[in-house]
Amino acid sequence: MENIIASAISQVGDGGQDYSPRRSPPGSFVIFGGGGDLTRRLLLPAIYNLACAGLLDDGFGIVAVDRAELSDEQLRQNVRAALEDFTARRRAEAVPLREDVWEWMQPRIRYVRGDFEEPQTYHDIAGMVGEQNCIFYLAVAARFFGPIVDRLGEAGLVREGRHTFRRVIVEKPFGSDLSSAIALNTRLLRTLDEQQIYRIDHYLGKETVQNIDHVQITAAETVGVEQRARFYESTGALRDMVPNHVMQLLAMTAMEAPISFEADAVRNEKTKVLDAIHPLAPSDVVRGQYAPGVVGGKEVPGYRQEPGVDPHSLTETYMAMKFRIDNWRWAGVPFYVRTGKRLAARKTEIAIHFKSAPYALFRDTPVDRLTPNIMVIHIQPTEGVTLQFSAKVPGPAVRLGGVRMKFDYAEWFSEGPSTGYETLIYDCMIGDATLFQRADNIEAGWRAVQPVLDWGQDARSLAFYAAGSEGPEAADALLARDHRHWLKIG
Ligand code: BG6
Repeated sequence: MENIIASAISQVGDGGQDYSPRRSPPGSFVIFGGGGDLTRRLLLPAIYNLACAGLLDDGFGIVAVDRAELSDEQLRQNVRAALEDFTARRRAEAVPLREDVWEWMQPRIRYVRGDFEEPQTYHDIAGMVGEQNCIFYLAVAARFFGPIVDRLGEAGLVREGRHTFRRVIVEKPFGSDLSSAIALNTRLLRTLDEQQIYRIDHYLGKETVQNIDHVQITAAETVGVEQRARFYESTGALRDMVPNHVMQLLAMTAMEAPISFEADAVRNEKTKVLDAIHPLAPSDVVRGQYAPGVVGGKEVPGYRQEPGVDPHSLTETYMAMKFRIDNWRWAGVPFYVRTGKRLAARKTEIAIHFKSAPYALFRDTPVDRLTPNIMVIHIQPTEGVTLQFSAKVPGPAVRLGGVRMKFDYAEWFSEGPSTGYETLIYDCMIGDATLFQRADNIEAGWRAVQPVLDWGQDARSLAFYAAGSEGPEAADALLARDHRHWLKIG
């Protein structure tokens, strides 16, 4: 079996339990922005993977909605090209597209050409989907979220039947600050029930705590702003990564065990943690921007030299922050988070640093201080868990060396390619909202970073770092102040 889900199911090794997932219910998956980049790179491959795993019902269909003039046939050709591109880029070796799966999928793909603001578009969609179950996926620029949901409501497309559902998956960015996030929630909730809204954060689709001294969360990328200068100039690293992806990682790490795996039980605990975040002070925050440097042996320009970027731009491409959580469990245990573009390596991980042993066990030996143990949860590009601790170096002398115990998903489970969207799309199909954000989760994430947005961008507060480096020195100083240091990225 080649799909990650299928392989995980078939390889639940010793002591594992086999929870075979059921097929999705029948229905239409309507993608607004059906011709866009996200659809091509992630959504279609994810749907293909679900089809490979046999998780889609025969009554499943895709309706792509976009503005370009396309026939169903042209659209199918584009979809095939996107899937071929995806399967060709598989990790170890290129794998051909599965023709049996393509034969199944092809006739289930249809196209609606239309403007997202025009009632006619919704009339056409209604004609195609009839009374079936529907998931509307908003893979469009954020300014369309409100209007599309309004139009869906006016066209009666989100009315659920006794046995049929209507759900809407909303991509990020969900608002650009706390008040716009609240306004968007209010607008969507005029048309939809909370349980119909699936606010997606793809970090939660990635597979993968009282002796803790502190926690470090890193989401480092080597890519620069790419072709997204227009979006990124007004967004920056804080809005792009922190209230959503980073906060989700923080909440997952710090939340109390929920009383069940019901979506609301999990989301209640996450919101409690986010609500307990102590208001940030300027000294807790470092904003950085990449200067020219070398990434992967290649010279690359600085952010201000990238096409479409203002040569005096104050937009940050890096953030480091120290969060404190005001509850009994986490009092005195800071969470340091950092995220940035053009760093030394692509790496997302959560590192839990345990306290040092309280006294020197090895009196009168050279080992009078043990290095603290660290548990690192690797989220990407490799997925796994490492435990770092000290062991005695073999031999007569008492000397300690650092060792690592490593569990690697790819080694243990023969892992197939996945986009991270498979689990989330499938969960929406079966109505499991656990890994999606509720309105209050989103707002709590924004509330935590709102002080930084309120301080505004200021040239003095921008620290530069060479592309390909570990980030700005000011970020090292943030931890050095507390006698700590970051784990190395590169
Ligand atoms: C997106 C951001 O949400 O996440 C991008 O808009 C960022 O700027 C991306 O590159 C990172 O996702 P991943 O899965 O590559 O870590």
